[in-house]
Amino acid sequence: MPENGGKKLRSQEWWIGSSYEHFARRAWFRAEGFGPEVFQNKPVIGICNSWSELNNCNMHLRMVAEAVKRGVWAAGGVALEFPTISLGEMFMRPTTMLYRNLMAMDVEESIRANPIDGVVLLCGCDKTTPAQLMGAASADIPAIVVPGGPMLSGQWRDRRLGSGTDGRKLFDLFRTGQVTEEEWSEIEGCISRSAGHCTVMGTASTMTSLAEALGMTLTGCANIPAPDSRRLSIAEASGRRIVDMVREDLRPSRIMTREAFENAITVDMAIGGSTNAVVHLIAIAGRLGIRLALKDFDAISRRTPYIANVKPSGEFLMEDFFYAGGLPAVMKEILPLLHGDLLTVTGKSMRENLEQAVAHRRDVIRTAAEPLNPQGGTVILYGNLAPDGAVLKQTAASRRLLEHRGRAYVFENYQQMRVEIDREDLPVDENTVLLMKNCGPKGAPGFPEWGHIPMPKVLLKRNIDDVVRISDARMSGTSFGTVVLHVAPEAAIGGPLGVVRTGDEIKLDVASRQLELCIADDEIKARLAQFTPPAPQYTRGYGRLFLEHVTQANLGCDFDFLMK
Ligand code: FES
Repeated sequence: MPENGGKKLRSQEWWIGSSYEHFARRAWFRAEGFGPEVFQNKPVIGICNSWSELNNCNMHLRMVAEAVKRGVWAAGGVALEFPTISLGEMFMRPTTMLYRNLMAMDVEESIRANPIDGVVLLCGCDKTTPAQLMGAASADIPAIVVPGGPMLSGQWRDRRLGSGTDGRKLFDLFRTGQVTEEEWSEIEGCISRSAGHCTVMGTASTMTSLAEALGMTLTGCANIPAPDSRRLSIAEASGRRIVDMVREDLRPSRIMTREAFENAITVDMAIGGSTNAVVHLIAIAGRLGIRLALKDFDAISRRTPYIANVKPSGEFLMEDFFYAGGLPAVMKEILPLLHGDLLTVTGKSMRENLEQAVAHRRDVIRTAAEPLNPQGGTVILYGNLAPDGAVLKQTAASRRLLEHRGRAYVFENYQQMRVEIDREDLPVDENTVLLMKNCGPKGAPGFPEWGHIPMPKVLLKRNIDDVVRISDARMSGTSFGTVVLHVAPEAAIGGPLGVVRTGDEIKLDVASRQLELCIADDEIKARLAQFTPPAPQYTRGYGRLFLEHVTQANLGCDFDFLMK
């Protein structure tokens, strides 16, 4: 009988036996053209593919899957590709975040229900990576991640463009007439030049990098550009490796330990990762019974230097980052801050994996001794406005606004903001705090990336390009500015954000991690007492399930019944 770390291969339960059901499974599997040898001591490797033409970032993953299959067959396994729902960031309404947990359930149940001994996770676009990791963590059979890699750098005339970061900056120029219709159309054709995920340190680059930091990819896998031949080469190597992982019974729960999550948070801080990483890491950890708290992120942020000079916090793009040494070079630089002895999918420790890592460009990957910022990218704020916390990416914020007091201008919801933001008579100035409510997990619903409230036209015309913005929404990892996000509890469940009125004074002090509504406690209590919950926006189907079971931002927004 085949061995699997001393256990029978899981797939053999499907194949080996004399019942009619065993016969039928073998016979129907052979309908795919396989001979009987596929049932003999061969680990069955599922290739969980988030390819979709509704997800341009992942549209090359069929080719990546073929490379994985070569590796699986060469190592003596049986490769079977299967699809799940994919989450195309640019297309899905109202937001892919509404469906992250649905994809995680699809991944988990597809693994659980089928004769699979190990799984290769093909991901890329923002939510596809955390969804696959959440599902694989719950299923807990040997798993390895192969991200699709970042797209080529955008190139418009003599200017390099990085996805949403430069897209938003150019859009502000277009809104104010500094970029013409013709130029805007030209930009549309060259900002996203290939398959692959966004080419800045947005959520996709962050989450694929953190998959590597967790120990779930082969070394150096995360950042190889999508069209680079090395992407297929490492996919093939990952296919070979997963077959051995099955034989070693190397499951996600043995790799993604609490210390591995501490490594991932440390790396997130060093690369200036997306604020979305906070929500996703908490959710992935929750599938393994590991409780990450927001204070864990802040404690690690305070001791971790930010050293990856990549947009939106820095200057360069993911292609530059890869050529400069990529994630292994960053991790080697901060190795004293990491748990170096942890086991990874390579079968070796993180420290061993990083032995050959080199930083080739110090303008892109700085030393820990000469960082771009002495602390990490993301900070956690608390105060009477966010009793359960809020996040801010300090490395993508304006230094002058990190300590700020200003009067709020309140949008009750996203729709009001969209109607008003370009009003020529909007009563705002450089000290105004723009505050938007009802954009959280239940309020929007789905926790969309609406938190990067566009700069009011009236301010752009005065060359003011940043003000403090606060909401219970998330923000695209490609965005920038002094933007406070994930305020918890959210307005729609009675959080204090909901009682702020235009004209109230708000205090932000990043150094002391404070976010305060500067009115008397009694007044806050009196306003909170008048709260009435909004009518649910979904009364049936998946939307209802989401509303009834999604947790708040500080708990990862997983469904309560999916956490371990
Ligand atoms: Fe897919 Fe940016 S749209 S990663």
